[in-house]
Amino acid sequence: MSANFPIESVRAAFPALTRPPEFVFFDNAAGAQVPQIVLDAVNHHLLECNVQRGGRYAKSREVDETIVRARQSVADLVNARDPSEIAFGMNATSFIRLVSLAIGQALGKRKDIVVTDMDHEANVATWLALERNGARILWWKVRDDGNLHVDDLIPLVSPTTRLVACTVASNAVGSIVDVAAAARVAHAAGAEIFLDCVHYGPHGLIDVQAFDCDYLVCSGYKIFAPHMGFLWGRRELLQQLPTFREDFIPDEPPGKIEAGTFTYESVAGMDAAVRYLESLGKSESGIPQTAQGSGSRRAILNRALQRIRTYEESLSLEMLRVLKDCGADVYGLTDASRIHERVPTLCFNLPDIPPARVTEKLANNNIGVRDGHMYSPRLMKRFGLAPETGAARASLVHYNTVEEVRLFGSVLAEMTNR
Ligand SMILES: Cc1ncc(COP(=O)(O)O)c(C=O)c1O
Repeated sequence: MSANFPIESVRAAFPALTRPPEFVFFDNAAGAQVPQIVLDAVNHHLLECNVQRGGRYAKSREVDETIVRARQSVADLVNARDPSEIAFGMNATSFIRLVSLAIGQALGKRKDIVVTDMDHEANVATWLALERNGARILWWKVRDDGNLHVDDLIPLVSPTTRLVACTVASNAVGSIVDVAAAARVAHAAGAEIFLDCVHYGPHGLIDVQAFDCDYLVCSGYKIFAPHMGFLWGRRELLQQLPTFREDFIPDEPPGKIEAGTFTYESVAGMDAAVRYLESLGKSESGIPQTAQGSGSRRAILNRALQRIRTYEESLSLEMLRVLKDCGADVYGLTDASRIHERVPTLCFNLPDIPPARVTEKLANNNIGVRDGHMYSPRLMKRFGLAPETGAARASLVHYNTVEEVRLFGSVLAEMTNR
């Protein structure tokens, strides 16, 4: 399944992965490593044009050009209809807040907001705060299999629904939601859908047109770029959205959403991260082979993300195998026949061993994983876990390997004496 994936050249593209000491990085859901091409772009910005945009001098013009280029790159990455639908900023949480504050100002007769118990709390608490504005919250609940089912959304949505807020993939258990079907349900009732694409971003093709969503947020730092976030919104909705801006800033996206200065070096890095993915779509056997590949940039990105998905499925299968061998309780989808419904993000507990001890032992073996509630305390409770202790989570991306999974498995086996 993974035979054609150029794992060696992928790893070689990420300097942090090959620097001593040897380290297995399985905490990618909290932020991924960056390839050299991203380091170069950030370095170039800080060295050659670390100035404010909007001036008439050459360095400032270069900053303007970088932002235009990055906006086009991110528009290609998410399949936006127009680059002005992309806004850059600090992180996903601040964009969720920006949109929720705006929506809260104009609820009108549509007061119902649907949230889920599978989401990262950033896409829950932000909407719950609208209860102060008169919103009524309805819960789309995760089933025992660890995923949200659109059949359960249907009875929650009505002519009084303003918005459905849900994730594309769970940052805790890795389930992928059928967001296109959820969008159909929301739109049939005249409601909107806000997608948290932070966790899905590094794993699969984002397609705002196929998802048919209204808003979507991502964190660049999960998609091989530095710390930053971006928002995509349907242009006509962004045009209507009330935002804070100084009077001299036109009421037009993306400027009306980007009041203040953002981190231009991170935006330069985000542009480079898209180019990195593009190189993966072009290469037959390695990275980078810029002359290879054909078709539009979108088609090339599509190929890159398809390759990533296929390779990551083999990592998920191997993770499930080693966790099963250790007798672990894995929360979420474990059925190999449904492997395409998950990304390689696995929450688990070993029998009678607190998750903090598991991650400590792995840390002592130079394997970075995380324990706790994963910012999804409601999901932990749903699985009968105390949010304070939660579970251990291993989150892999396409630069991780089957050998790393086996090493991880051998440390767990030592703990469980299997
Ligand atoms: C699914 C999901 N949503 C939202 C967030 C918050 O993102 P940010 O740190 O960019 O605000 C995270 C961060 O881990 C996440 O995993």
